[in-house]
Amino acid sequence: MSKPKVIVTRRWPVEVETQLKALYDVQLNESDTPMSEDELKLAMQSADALLPTVTDPITADIINVENRRVKIIGNFGVGYNNIDINAAKEQGVLVTNTPHVLTDCTADIAMLLLLMSARRAPEAERMVLNKQWTGWGPTQLLGQKVTGKTLGLIGFGRIAQAMARKAHHGFGMKILFYVPSAPDQAIVDELKAERCDTLEALLSEAHFVSLHCPGGAATKHLINEDRLRLMRPSAHLINTARGDVIDSDALIKALKEGWIAGAGLDVFEGEPNLNPGFLTLNNVALLPHIGSASEETRTAMGNRVLNNIAAFFAGNEPDDRVV
Ligand code: DGY
Repeated sequence: MSKPKVIVTRRWPVEVETQLKALYDVQLNESDTPMSEDELKLAMQSADALLPTVTDPITADIINVENRRVKIIGNFGVGYNNIDINAAKEQGVLVTNTPHVLTDCTADIAMLLLLMSARRAPEAERMVLNKQWTGWGPTQLLGQKVTGKTLGLIGFGRIAQAMARKAHHGFGMKILFYVPSAPDQAIVDELKAERCDTLEALLSEAHFVSLHCPGGAATKHLINEDRLRLMRPSAHLINTARGDVIDSDALIKALKEGWIAGAGLDVFEGEPNLNPGFLTLNNVALLPHIGSASEETRTAMGNRVLNNIAAFFAGNEPDDRVV
């Protein structure tokens, strides 16, 4: 029997690409250049599985392409707001993602951004790099203490919980969270976490607010001008979720006018073309979407996709089926 045809849209860790080559008739993307809409349509017509990632918009047009051959889309990423899930469902195309394996690394980056923002690390590093540091000073670059402060989490899924553990057990932080669905009580107890009834209550109480909700239409600009105005002037906003959860114009205004003290961002509206206003600010830590970017995690994400498509081609239910 011939091997299933699999198309991978970007470069993956070598170890996983080697596995793919051994198991499938695979088309890799050695140049790592994102595929165009036409190339993605052609891929849908010529492969049994498409393996895209969070930078590939898999729209209804692409999914509905005539003579589609693809039966499974194995997304390399836990977030799948790049895929039109309703179109996939309607067309009976199975979609999988890569949960669990990136939880700790993404929470680490959220914690890194929190610390960078609190302690004014971007501004401090810039001072050194620009050769403007003239020596230690008692009032130089005073930031905010992190230990013992209150962290408010918007969303309380795996990554939020991992961050809460690091913050609570490592930094003695008090944990607040806001989530519409019922949380796991054992974790709430372990972290002595408090659930806020409203987003507004969390925003006005927390010293640090970290976003951990999915992207997409339901959360677009959840953090807008009105909500930013509820935060403490000494507060910091951290985003490792999806860029469009924050109205970036409103955040730039808030950072410029001092409604909040700082922000740490790993994701951006319209990334990689971030709002140029961010580049003019000293009180924002900017990272290029590296939440899951460790060798171990990216390899594990690839292996997760491998397991999902292997299950599918063996006629079994993939572990990480989304639709
Ligand atoms: C994801 O998986 O959704 C991240 O944004 C990239 O690792």
